[in-house]
Amino acid sequence: MPVKILMVCLGNICRSPLAEGLLQSKLPREKFIVDSAGTGNWHVGKQPDARSIAIAKLNGLDISCQRGRHFSKKDFEEYHYIYVMDSSNYSDVISLAPNSEAKSKVKMILNEIFPGENVDVPDPYFGLENGFANVYAMLDEACDSIAQKLIAKHF
Ligand code: 4NP
Repeated sequence: MPVKILMVCLGNICRSPLAEGLLQSKLPREKFIVDSAGTGNWHVGKQPDARSIAIAKLNGLDISCQRGRHFSKKDFEEYHYIYVMDSSNYSDVISLAPNSEAKSKVKMILNEIFPGENVDVPDPYFGLENGFANVYAMLDEACDSIAQKLIAKHF
Protein backbone atom coordinates (compact mmCIF):
# COMPACT_ATOMS: atom_id res chain seq x y z
CA MET A 1 0.00 0.00 0.00
CA PRO A 2 1.47 3.37 -1.00
CA VAL A 3 1.79 6.18 1.52
CA LYS A 4 -0.52 9.04 0.46
CA ILE A 5 0.20 12.72 1.05
CA LEU A 6 -2.14 15.63 0.27
CA MET A 7 -1.10 19.28 -0.18
CA VAL A 8 -3.87 21.85 0.46
CA CYS A 9 -4.23 25.58 -0.24
CA LEU A 10 -7.17 27.88 -1.01
CA GLY A 11 -7.47 27.80 -4.80
CA ASN A 12 -5.38 24.69 -5.64
CA ILE A 13 -3.82 26.63 -8.51
CA CYS A 14 -0.78 28.43 -7.02
CA ARG A 15 0.84 26.96 -3.88
CA SER A 16 -0.39 23.39 -3.43
CA PRO A 17 0.26 22.35 -7.07
CA LEU A 18 3.90 23.42 -6.55
CA ALA A 19 4.06 21.52 -3.25
CA GLU A 20 2.57 18.44 -4.94
CA GLY A 21 5.05 18.54 -7.84
CA LEU A 22 8.03 19.22 -5.58
CA LEU A 23 7.32 16.50 -3.04
CA GLN A 24 6.46 13.90 -5.68
CA SER A 25 9.75 14.66 -7.45
CA LYS A 26 11.67 13.87 -4.25
CA LEU A 27 9.95 10.53 -3.52
CA PRO A 28 9.89 7.17 -5.32
CA ARG A 29 6.54 6.92 -7.15
CA GLU A 30 5.99 3.25 -6.47
CA LYS A 31 5.84 3.91 -2.73
CA PHE A 32 4.41 7.43 -2.35
CA ILE A 33 1.40 9.15 -3.95
CA VAL A 34 1.19 12.94 -3.68
CA ASP A 35 -1.92 14.93 -4.62
CA SER A 36 -3.27 18.43 -3.93
CA ALA A 37 -6.64 20.08 -3.35
CA GLY A 38 -8.18 23.46 -2.54
CA THR A 39 -10.49 24.47 0.30
CA GLY A 40 -12.27 26.70 -2.25
CA ASN A 41 -13.98 25.34 -5.36
CA TRP A 42 -13.50 28.16 -7.90
CA HIS A 43 -10.76 26.42 -9.87
CA VAL A 44 -12.00 22.83 -9.98
CA GLY A 45 -10.84 21.18 -13.21
CA LYS A 46 -8.45 24.03 -14.03
CA GLN A 47 -4.71 23.89 -14.74
CA PRO A 48 -2.37 25.46 -12.17
CA ASP A 49 -1.84 29.22 -12.50
CA ALA A 50 0.47 30.01 -15.45
CA ARG A 51 2.96 31.64 -13.03
CA SER A 52 3.22 28.41 -10.98
CA ILE A 53 3.65 26.35 -14.13
CA ALA A 54 6.40 28.78 -15.25
CA ILE A 55 8.42 28.78 -12.02
CA ALA A 56 8.19 24.98 -11.84
CA LYS A 57 9.35 24.68 -15.46
CA LEU A 58 12.27 27.01 -14.78
CA ASN A 59 13.33 24.51 -12.12
CA GLY A 60 12.84 21.45 -14.31
CA LEU A 61 9.45 20.40 -12.95
CA ASP A 62 6.35 19.92 -15.12
CA ILE A 63 3.11 20.54 -13.19
CA SER A 64 0.99 21.41 -16.24
CA CYS A 65 -0.95 18.11 -16.17
CA GLN A 66 -2.40 18.78 -12.71
CA ARG A 67 -6.06 19.79 -12.41
CA GLY A 68 -7.73 21.64 -9.54
CA ARG A 69 -10.01 19.78 -7.17
CA HIS A 70 -11.96 20.63 -4.04
CA PHE A 71 -10.83 19.28 -0.65
CA SER A 72 -13.42 16.93 0.78
CA LYS A 73 -14.05 15.22 4.11
CA LYS A 74 -13.34 11.90 2.38
CA ASP A 75 -9.71 12.96 1.98
CA PHE A 76 -9.20 12.24 5.69
CA GLU A 77 -9.83 8.55 4.94
CA GLU A 78 -7.67 8.47 1.79
CA TYR A 79 -4.56 10.33 2.94
CA HIS A 80 -2.03 9.60 5.66
CA TYR A 81 -0.53 13.12 5.77
CA ILE A 82 -2.21 16.45 4.96
CA TYR A 83 -0.04 19.57 4.62
CA VAL A 84 -1.73 22.97 4.51
CA MET A 85 -0.10 26.19 3.28
CA ASP A 86 -1.46 28.73 5.78
CA SER A 87 -3.41 29.15 9.00
CA SER A 88 -6.66 29.86 7.19
CA ASN A 89 -6.35 26.57 5.23
CA TYR A 90 -5.58 24.93 8.59
CA SER A 91 -8.84 26.16 10.19
CA ASP A 92 -10.88 25.25 7.10
CA VAL A 93 -9.48 21.71 6.92
CA ILE A 94 -9.64 21.09 10.69
CA SER A 95 -13.29 22.22 10.71
CA LEU A 96 -14.11 19.26 8.42
CA ALA A 97 -12.16 16.66 10.44
CA PRO A 98 -14.47 13.96 11.83
CA ASN A 99 -12.29 13.02 14.81
CA SER A 100 -8.97 13.61 16.57
CA GLU A 101 -7.11 11.04 14.45
CA ALA A 102 -8.11 12.98 11.33
CA LYS A 103 -7.07 16.27 12.98
CA SER A 104 -3.65 14.85 13.82
CA LYS A 105 -2.93 14.28 10.10
CA VAL A 106 -3.07 18.02 9.38
CA LYS A 107 0.16 20.04 9.55
CA MET A 108 1.26 23.54 8.52
CA ILE A 109 3.88 22.79 5.86
CA LEU A 110 6.42 25.41 6.96
CA ASN A 111 6.50 23.92 10.48
CA GLU A 112 8.83 21.42 8.79
CA ILE A 113 11.52 24.09 8.57
CA PHE A 114 10.33 26.50 11.31
CA PRO A 115 9.04 24.06 13.93
CA GLY A 116 6.13 25.28 16.00
CA GLU A 117 6.13 28.78 14.45
CA ASN A 118 3.01 28.34 12.27
CA VAL A 119 4.47 30.45 9.47
CA ASP A 120 2.21 30.87 6.42
CA VAL A 121 3.27 30.23 2.83
CA PRO A 122 2.18 33.64 1.48
CA ASP A 123 -0.56 33.50 -1.15
CA PRO A 124 1.12 34.78 -4.36
CA TYR A 125 -2.13 34.97 -6.39
CA PHE A 126 -2.69 38.73 -6.11
CA GLY A 127 0.97 39.63 -5.61
CA LEU A 128 4.02 40.35 -7.69
CA GLU A 129 5.60 37.85 -10.06
CA ASN A 130 8.56 37.21 -7.71
CA GLY A 131 6.11 35.94 -5.10
CA PHE A 132 6.10 32.67 -7.01
CA ALA A 133 9.90 32.28 -6.83
CA ASN A 134 9.76 32.90 -3.06
CA VAL A 135 6.98 30.38 -2.61
CA TYR A 136 8.87 27.85 -4.74
CA ALA A 137 12.04 28.25 -2.62
CA MET A 138 10.14 27.83 0.68
CA LEU A 139 8.25 24.78 -0.55
CA ASP A 140 11.41 23.22 -2.01
CA GLU A 141 13.11 23.40 1.40
CA ALA A 142 10.06 22.14 3.30
CA CYS A 143 9.56 19.27 0.84
CA ASP A 144 13.22 18.24 1.14
CA SER A 145 12.71 17.84 4.86
CA ILE A 146 9.36 16.04 4.47
CA ALA A 147 10.80 13.65 1.87
CA GLN A 148 13.78 12.77 4.08
CA LYS A 149 11.49 12.00 7.01
CA LEU A 150 9.02 9.99 4.93
CA ILE A 151 11.76 7.90 3.35
CA ALA A 152 13.35 7.24 6.76
CA LYS A 153 9.97 6.27 8.24
CA HIS A 154 8.52 4.17 5.43
CA PHE A 155 11.56 2.29 4.13
P1 4NP B 1 -3.66 29.31 -3.99
O1 4NP B 1 -3.87 30.81 -4.48
O2 4NP B 1 -4.53 29.13 -2.77
O3 4NP B 1 -2.20 29.26 -3.64
O4 4NP B 1 -4.04 28.41 -5.14
C1 4NP B 1 -5.15 31.33 -4.79
C2 4NP B 1 -5.66 31.16 -6.03
C3 4NP B 1 -6.90 31.69 -6.35
C4 4NP B 1 -7.61 32.39 -5.40
C5 4NP B 1 -7.09 32.54 -4.13
C6 4NP B 1 -5.86 32.01 -3.82
N1 4NP B 1 -8.86 32.97 -5.73
O5 4NP B 1 -9.41 33.71 -4.89
O6 4NP B 1 -9.40 32.72 -6.83
